[in-house]
Amino acid sequence: MKKSVLLMALIFLPTLGFASNGEEIFKTKGCGGCHSKEYDSFAPSLKTISKSYYKKNQELKDYLQGKKPGLIKGEPKTMKGFINITKKLSEKDLSALIEYLLSF
Ligand code: HEC
Repeated sequence: MKKSVLLMALIFLPTLGFASNGEEIFKTKGCGGCHSKEYDSFAPSLKTISKSYYKKNQELKDYLQGKKPGLIKGEPKTMKGFINITKKLSEKDLSALIEYLLSF
């Protein structure tokens, strides 16, 4: 009995962790190719994003769902293709991604 519970946990935990891990989503969707954690380039750093969207989770969500333009001025065209990606994320994955983006 104990063994099978452990086995179930081993099978399911990694998949659960994967789906709800904002950092994984950030990496697998290629966001890190342009956004560094610390340094602003042509794309704002995660630090800048965290600061600009401090207590503005809803604004960030609207942005990532393509409902509203971003708060940070830059090159909006570059992000367009990626909004098409974040727009399709599930509610849960999007929340996890937002939590990660705002954790810097
Ligand atoms: C090809 C480079 C590139 C990639 C890849 C990229 N971004 Fe961006 N991102 C930018 C640029 C340039 C800006 C600044 C212009 C703008 O605000 O649209 C930006 C802005 C942003 C902003 C701030 C928006 C604002 O203006 O307030 C967020 C949040 C963001 N990106 C999230 C993401 C996420 C999440 C991903 C992955 C799904 C991603 N980006 C992938 C280039 C990129």
